[in-house]
Amino acid sequence: MRLAITNLKGGTGKTMTAVHLAAGLGRHGRTLLVDADPQGSATEWTMLMEDERPFDLLTDSGENLHRRIAEFGEGYAHIVIDTPPGHDAVVRSAILSATDVLVPPDVALVPVCSVASHPTRMTCGCVTVSDRRSWDRGPSHAAVK
Ligand SMILES: Nc1ncnc2c1ncn2[C@@H]1O[C@H](COP(=O)(O)OP(=O)(O)OP(=O)(O)O)[C@@H](O)[C@H]1O
Ligand SMILES: [Mg+2]
Repeated sequence: MRLAITNLKGGTGKTMTAVHLAAGLGRHGRTLLVDADPQGSATEWTMLMEDERPFDLLTDSGENLHRRIAEFGEGYAHIVIDTPPGHDAVVRSAILSATDVLVPPDVALVPVCSVASHPTRMTCGCVTVSDRRSWDRGPSHAAVK
């Protein structure tokens, strides 16, 4: 699985989710965590890990990640990509690199209450990219599960 963690809004838990998922997936197959955020938070968290970490780390916030993913992703069962907020080109490239996209929601009180009162409203989701080219036309063209 190649998983991009995205939300153009800042502070929604993207990095925390990415690092923990990489640690979990790393116990089930060779895993690479890509820190595509120029802030470097995932890199900093990874460096703080005292135990042997079960994933490799690549710090790369380039806008053409999707053109190089086949090269640097070779041999990995799982790739998790942490993305920056509000940096469309990097986020787009991460999505184009991914088979799945996870969008951690803003867990502030107002959206949580909104979900509680409107259970059908989706504030987070996992998108499977069935047709990579469809993302060029926008997320609404991709298969959503
Ligand atoms: N599951 C969680 N439970 C409690 N606190 C959390 C959780 N996930 C993240 N946080 C906290 O929320 C804050 C933002 O988390 P994080 O840095 O992962 O967000 P981010 O979306 O990566 O932010 P940015 O957009 O700036 O990159 C941090 O202080 C983090 O400790
Ligand atoms: Mg982050």
